Amino acid sequence: MSREIRITPSILNADFSHLDQEIQRIAGASDLLHLDVMDNIFVPNFTFDFARSEEIIASSPIPVDAHLMVADVDLIAPAYAEAGCASVTIHVEATSDIRATARAIRRAGSRCGLGIKPGTSIDDYVNYVDDIDMFLIMTVEPGFGGQKFMYDMMEKVSRTRMIIGDRPIWLQVDGGVSLETISAAAEAGADTFVAGSAVFNADDPAAMIDSLRKLAIAVAD
Ligand code: DX5
Ligand code: ZN
Repeated sequence: MSREIRITPSILNADFSHLDQEIQRIAGASDLLHLDVMDNIFVPNFTFDFARSEEIIASSPIPVDAHLMVADVDLIAPAYAEAGCASVTIHVEATSDIRATARAIRRAGSRCGLGIKPGTSIDDYVNYVDDIDMFLIMTVEPGFGGQKFMYDMMEKVSRTRMIIGDRPIWLQVDGGVSLETISAAAEAGADTFVAGSAVFNADDPAAMIDSLRKLAIAVAD
């Protein structure tokens, strides 16, 4: 049975001064909108505060997948779920209580993702498979779009795929995903793909999303 594939474009590299229009350009081809929230503490960059995030979530025509790259994640993650996100990802390197925050996110009606930076081992998080709905394996150092895909993360992706087994947990990769790199990520076992610059640097972002999807499906079958 082939794996269900999801493309979740990041707006980090979109034109923030025309965000609504930019989102409209990709909504029809995308499964979820990947919202990169950065606080300039957990990562050396800032994107959206909660008030602006709420506006984006409320006006998004498609479900929102919030990627929280923030230091006070246990405090604000539930609020992103209550604001209507379909999925809220917390980083293991930021949270002080995965189970409690995951429970709060799920109780507020969202799926819960667990983000793993390149330098973090997945093996320390095997016991959380019943608490979460997605693993997010970073294939760049979080903080910026347009970075080079880290092929040495593919072993971790394969290991994560094994850990997931037949559980309904999504396996998302995030960072440097493009026409050149998505097949390697799908081959390693990913089923959910963030793409920022590959999508928004394309002449036709929606067509790019379709091409990325086709490549991932071809491998996942
Ligand atoms: C990086 C973000 C990613 C990034 C993806 O910290 O989490 O979502 O924006 O952008 P690209 O696809 O350009 O690497
Ligand atoms: Zn992200």
